[in-house]
Amino acid sequence: MKTEKIIRFLMNPIDPRDVAVIPIVGMGGLGKTTVSKLVYNDKRVEEHFERRIWVCVSEMFDVKKLMRAIVESATGIRCDLDEMEAIHRRVQELIMGKRFLLVLDDVRNEDHEKWDRLKNSVQHGSEGSGILVTTRSEKVALIMGTITPYHLEGLSDDNCWLLFQQRAFRNGRLDERASNLVAVGKEIASARVYLWQQRLSEAHCR
Ligand SMILES: Nc1ncnc2c1ncn2[C@@H]1O[C@H](COP(=O)(O)OP(=O)(O)O)[C@@H](O)[C@H]1O
Ligand SMILES: [Mg+2]
Repeated sequence: MKTEKIIRFLMNPIDPRDVAVIPIVGMGGLGKTTVSKLVYNDKRVEEHFERRIWVCVSEMFDVKKLMRAIVESATGIRCDLDEMEAIHRRVQELIMGKRFLLVLDDVRNEDHEKWDRLKNSVQHGSEGSGILVTTRSEKVALIMGTITPYHLEGLSDDNCWLLFQQRAFRNGRLDERASNLVAVGKEIASARVYLWQQRLSEAHCR
C-alpha cells in the first residue's frame, strides 16, 4: 500500500544524519494530501516523531510566512512574531533535539534559493527527521527531494466513476430516475476527474 511505502521511507531514512526530503508527485486531485494525512496520523509515525508539523503551502512560498506557519502548527498557537531572526529562533527552539516530521503540502515553488533558506532553518532537529513534500510538479520534486520522488498513481476508470458518484450525487448514489446522466457522468469522470477534484482540494487547502 502507498502509505506503508511512504511510512517505511520516513522511518528508515538512507542517511539519518541528513533531513530526508520525500516528494510525493502527481496531478491535482490524485490523493497526495489524503495519503500524506494518512501517513501523518498513523500511530507508528505519531510515536516515532517527537514533533509533527503540517503546513499547507499552495501558491505562497514566502519563507517568513512558512516559518511562522511551522511555529503555529508545532505549538497550536498563533504566532505574531515579525522579525525573521525571532521566528528563526522560535523554529530552532521547537525542533532542537527533536526528531521531527514536517509536511509541506502542495508546493509549487521552483526557486532553489527560497527552498534552501527554508531547509537551512530546519536543520537542527534530531537524526532521522524528515520532510514530506506533496507537489504536482516533477521539477519541484527534483529540486527539493533527497530521494527519488514517489509517484502517486491515478485511480482506475471504475474507481473514478465510483468517486464521481459519491461526489456528484446525493447520498453518493445515482438516482434511478437520473440514469440518463450515467453516460454524461462517466464521460466526465474518465475525462478529467482530477480537474474537479483539484477545485475541491484547492478549496480544502484555503
Ligand atoms: N483513495 C481515495 N478514495 C476516495 N476518495 C479519495 C481517495 N483519495 C483522495 N480522495 C478524494 O479525492 C479528493 C482529492 O484528493 P487530495 O488528496 O486532495 O488530492 P491532491 O492532494 O493530490 O490534489 C479529495 O476530496 C479526497 O477526499
Ligand atoms: Mg493536495
